[in-house]
Amino acid sequence: MAVNEKDVELIVKQILDQMGGTVSSGSTAAYSYSGSASGNIPSKARVAMLVDKERFEIKEFPIPEVGDDDILVKVEGCGVCGTDAHEFKRDPFGLIPVALGHEGTGEIVKMGKNVKKDSAGKDLHVGDKVVTCMIFQDDPEITMFDLNKQNVGAADVYGLLPDDDYHLNGWFSDYIFVRKGSTIFNVSDLDLDSRVLIEPCAVLIHAVERAKTTGILRFNSRVVVQGCGPIGLICIAVLRTMGIQNITAVDGNAKRLEFAKRLGADKTVDFNDHKGIEALTKAVEDSFDGHLADFAFQCTGNPKAHANIYKFIRNGGGLCELGFFVNGGDATINPHFDLCSKEINLVGSWVYTLRDYGTTFDFLKRAKSIGLPLNELITHKFPLEEINEALKTNLAMTGLKIAIITPPGR
Ligand SMILES: NC(=O)c1ccc[n+]([C@@H]2O[C@H](COP(=O)([O-])OP(=O)(O)OC[C@H]3O[C@@H](n4cnc5c(N)ncnc54)[C@H](O)[C@@H]3O)[C@@H](O)[C@H]2O)c1
Ligand SMILES: [Zn+2]
Repeated sequence: MAVNEKDVELIVKQILDQMGGTVSSGSTAAYSYSGSASGNIPSKARVAMLVDKERFEIKEFPIPEVGDDDILVKVEGCGVCGTDAHEFKRDPFGLIPVALGHEGTGEIVKMGKNVKKDSAGKDLHVGDKVVTCMIFQDDPEITMFDLNKQNVGAADVYGLLPDDDYHLNGWFSDYIFVRKGSTIFNVSDLDLDSRVLIEPCAVLIHAVERAKTTGILRFNSRVVVQGCGPIGLICIAVLRTMGIQNITAVDGNAKRLEFAKRLGADKTVDFNDHKGIEALTKAVEDSFDGHLADFAFQCTGNPKAHANIYKFIRNGGGLCELGFFVNGGDATINPHFDLCSKEINLVGSWVYTLRDYGTTFDFLKRAKSIGLPLNELITHKFPLEEINEALKTNLAMTGLKIAIITPPGR
C-alpha cells in the first residue's frame, strides 16, 4: 500500500500521546516468571524485534506469568501490513525497538480464571483460535483511528506500540501476551488463511456497508471496482458473496485482473489497452453492454484514478472512495460535470468498526462456501526467522499478501 509517511506518523503519534506510551529499551523484564509455564508451554518465546531500520532480530524473552485476566496465545500466523513495511523501512514513528504484527491469529494455550468470554460474548477456552483487534470494545461504531480517546486509549494494541517489559506484544512472535481490556475474538470456526485475512477483509466489509447507505447497491447493480491490489480484489469477493454479479474490474496488471475474475469479476478492463479517458470509459461501458456503472469502488491511492472514476458512473449513480487511507495528494475533478449535474452519491470509507468484524467472519465462511479462492491472496508465506525476507518481499510488491506462518509442528 502506498503510504504517505507524514500522515501515518501523525496518526501513530496521536495514538501514542493518548496512551501515554513511553519507549522502553530495557531487556530486563519486571515480572515474575517462576512457575508460569506449564505443560508444553516453554519458559521462553521468540519475538521478531525490529531493532534498526530494515533489521529484525529474533530475540528470546521469558514468558510472563499468566495473571487472572491474561491470555497467552501461541501464534500460528500473521499478515504483513503496509504499515509494518513502512515502519520496517523508515521507522517514521520512532518505535524501535518494536514487536510488530497486528494481523495475527493463534491458539489460546493458557488463560486466567477471570477470562470467560470474547469481545462478542462468545465463550473462550484453552485451545480456541483467536484474533485481536485494534478497536476498543465499548463502542462498536467507532473506527480504529477515531482519535477521540475512547478508541485505543484504554485498550492494549498489539503490533504497533513500542516495546515494553512484556515484550510479547506483537504477532510476529511465537507467543503473544493478551492483557485485560484488549479486544479479542474467538474465531475457531475459520481456517488459518481466513483468520490471517480478517483485518484487510474488515476494511471491505466496512466499505460495502458505507456503499449500501446510498441505497443504490442492489442485487442487479452494475459495479466497477478500480484497482486490483488486495483491497480491490477483496472488494470484488465481498460483492460477489452478497450476490452481485455484474462486476467489472479495472487495473493495468494482467495477472491481477485474471485473479479478479476468479474472485468474482464478470469482466475486466486493462487500462493499458485504452488510451485516454474517453476510450477507457467506452471500454467500461462496453463491459456492461452499453451501460455506465450504477456504482463504483475506488481502490487505488492514485489521484488520477479518483478523477477518472466519475466518468464510469451513470447519472444518479454512486461512488465509494476508499483508496486514500493516507494523503496521496489532490485530485482534480469538474464539480459540475462529474458530481453536481450527475447527482453522484459519494461516500468515503476508512478502516472499520468493531461491528464490521462479526460480519467479516460470516463473509469469510460464505466466500469459502461458494468457492472463491480468497486464500490464494496469500502469495508468500515465511517462517518467523525469515521475517526480514518477508518484509523485503512486501516492499518489492511482487506478490499480493505476504504472511508469517508458523510451520506445522513447531
Ligand atoms: N480505506 C481504508 O481503510 C484502507 C485500508 C487499507 C488500504 N487502503 C488503501 O487502498 C489502496 C489499495 O490498497 P492495496 O493494498 O490493494 O494496494 P496496491 O498498491 O497493492 O493496489 C493498487 C492497485 O491499483 C492499480 N492502479 C493504480 N493506478 C490505477 C489506475 N489509474 N486505474 C486502475 N488501477 C490502478 C495498481 O495497478 C494496483 O494493482 C491503497 O491506496 C491503500 O492505502 C485503504
Ligand atoms: Zn493492517
